[in-house]
Amino acid sequence: MFVCRTISEVRQQRLAETGASWGLVPTMGFLHDGHLSLIRAAKAENDRVAVSIYVNPTQFGPQDDFDSYPRDLERDLAILREAGVDLTFTPTDSVMYPAAFETAVSLQYLTNRLEGAARPKHFQGVTTVVTKLFNIIQPHRAYFGQKDAQQTIVLDRMIKDLNFDVEMIVCPTVREADGLALSSRNKYLSPAEREAATVLYRALQAAEAAYQEGERRGQPLRSLMREIIAAEPMAKLEYVSVANPETLFELEELAGNILLSLAVRVGKTRLIDNIPVIAQ
Ligand code: PAJ
Repeated sequence: MFVCRTISEVRQQRLAETGASWGLVPTMGFLHDGHLSLIRAAKAENDRVAVSIYVNPTQFGPQDDFDSYPRDLERDLAILREAGVDLTFTPTDSVMYPAAFETAVSLQYLTNRLEGAARPKHFQGVTTVVTKLFNIIQPHRAYFGQKDAQQTIVLDRMIKDLNFDVEMIVCPTVREADGLALSSRNKYLSPAEREAATVLYRALQAAEAAYQEGERRGQPLRSLMREIIAAEPMAKLEYVSVANPETLFELEELAGNILLSLAVRVGKTRLIDNIPVIAQ
């Protein structure tokens, strides 16, 4: 495995293998089985797999957890070696954002809703860093998790709008046995909070069941999710959403596919989850 810390090291390895197909898995590290599921998918479909580990400061707001975000590079590199990854890119801030840096990639509308409404500038940080990673690594395919549904929708739009020659692959959310979606941020949870955190998936599943049983109005599904979150004393709801999975606009009449999503604080930890529901 080539451990590259600079852009020229990546270019050197990448250029030595221009005939191979490359898959990229962008991450912020502190790897778990969710990340590994993306790596497995990338390995199955490409000759070479690159994984980037970079806690990107520009996608964290002033109130966010940039400083405390969990990091363990040595452990991550051991996991990636074991997983058979070919190249890792672990840049420093001065490699990614040298002093004179001033360009940003941003979308006009999709990033104003849901996570974008709650975290201004978050998606601009994501789209800018992913653009840089695409240009540096030049993958044929890039792998992202359904766990961050809006991130996949925003990046899919960006890839199309800017004509990136990259195929985007979205992999299913990996969960703990009790339904909690794997996340690097789960590490912040105390044992009692960890227990309470199951409320996110329980609320989503209840809304999905109500839809499958025939409820075709958005409002009752949002109310149901709100009630279930409210019944958990350690959880504080930020938003619930029943949205069109392409535009992310809230839906009242449910006809086609829908995206059920929510953001909840459990103690100080902000958790998100979603279920994409395919119309029957
Ligand atoms: P990070 O949170 O480390 O996630 C890296 C990738 O793993 C993302 O595509 C995310 O959706 C996916 N992932 C996380 N938890 C998952 C789970 N439980 N099941 C399946 N996939 C999961 O997302 C980011 O980093 C950053 O925004 C990044 C794209 C790297 C840009 O900085």
